[in-house]
Amino acid sequence: MKWNLSTFGRQLGADSGIDSLMQDLGTAMSGSQSFHMLGGGNPAHIPAIEQVWRERWREIMASPREVERILGNYDTPQGSPAFLEAMADSLADRYGWPVSSDNIAVVNGSQSAFLYLLNMFDGKKDGTSSRVLLPLNPEYIGYADQVLAPRAFTSVPPIVELIGDHRFKYHIDFDRLQITPEIAAICVSRPTNPTGNVLTDEEMRRLDELAGLHGIPLIVDNAYGAPFPDIIFSETQPMWSENTILVLSLSKLGLPGTRTGIVVAPPEVVKSIQSINAVCGLANGNLGQAITAPLLRSGALYDLSRDVIRPFYETKSKQALAWLDQYLPAEVPYRIHVSEGALFLWIWFPELPVSSAELYARLKQRGVLVVSGHYFFYGLPERHEHQDRCIRLSYAQAAEDVEAGIAIMAEEIRSLMG
Ligand SMILES: Cc1ncc(COP(=O)(O)O)c(C=O)c1O
Repeated sequence: MKWNLSTFGRQLGADSGIDSLMQDLGTAMSGSQSFHMLGGGNPAHIPAIEQVWRERWREIMASPREVERILGNYDTPQGSPAFLEAMADSLADRYGWPVSSDNIAVVNGSQSAFLYLLNMFDGKKDGTSSRVLLPLNPEYIGYADQVLAPRAFTSVPPIVELIGDHRFKYHIDFDRLQITPEIAAICVSRPTNPTGNVLTDEEMRRLDELAGLHGIPLIVDNAYGAPFPDIIFSETQPMWSENTILVLSLSKLGLPGTRTGIVVAPPEVVKSIQSINAVCGLANGNLGQAITAPLLRSGALYDLSRDVIRPFYETKSKQALAWLDQYLPAEVPYRIHVSEGALFLWIWFPELPVSSAELYARLKQRGVLVVSGHYFFYGLPERHEHQDRCIRLSYAQAAEDVEAGIAIMAEEIRSLMG
């Protein structure tokens, strides 16, 4: 480039893990090249859910002036009043949370919400740069390049619990978590992308307490969580408190194309998000809000999540785990993170002779897209031994693709390590 780039231009305009993941995903989903897509987090096309969108589409078409209102008007930067009210009322009814429309802001996809939120808060002014604390690592690739330098992330290595011969689980190492003055916010995804871990209610309570004690927000990324899309297979409760900023999304319900994220937060934060929305993009897309507002009001969205979406993914997770155990050579050491939610399996090959990035490249050559695990480790004081030894695999797409992708991956592992 012949022009000098600013920090913003350098950081956000550079190559990044999330860009490479989304490019792979977009290419695979557009059908322009044939891949077994075990890469990015595109949700599944679930026929019973797609039927609901079609019905809502027909209702919208049949309502006088509704199409014109959706397509022809800018929304307010906070979101459509009808949607904000439906969202707040349904959360208040269901969980007794003390929320009203003043606690809800819509954003153009929850990814944008994190750009705003991760840059919005400052630590105590003690001369050092603010940092966002990730209590659990590995953590979502999508935050990694969002915090503008010199701000950054800080984290601690996870406790690794070995389970049986081929499973494991990460835990937050609370003893090593330190809320030093420069920490501006705590951020976690629940379920965790990439691992499929779901922080327990007790872990969430402890994080909430820590945030409250230090007067900083706990930002909870609920892209896969309850109450929707509810891709959680363990027994947990959604939680919100005055210390918490909960970020929801319509994407994993099956509406990623509408780019709708939802922030549930204290009113002052909502007001700031509204202003940032106006500055950055004037207003939000309103189609996702229009499709789902009546489904929130009737509770159908919650019922569909519990009765259709969650069982759909749980079955797929079990099937993918069974294929991995079937295809991976018994003599090769491998461990899969326990699958408690989200769309992913996280596989650790402790003796992988090449880096996970090299394994990704080899698999791509063979028509299988996965995500190299190295992108998900950041903010740690030193390189983690899992950093180059793990891959993330999505099981959301068609069963035949998932099985074929796993079989090819297992063959590659055999040829590398057999
Ligand atoms: C953990 C997590 N958070 C946030 C997002 C952003 O999703 P969206 O912007 O589609 O709401 C994703 C997308 O895959 C995700 O996996």
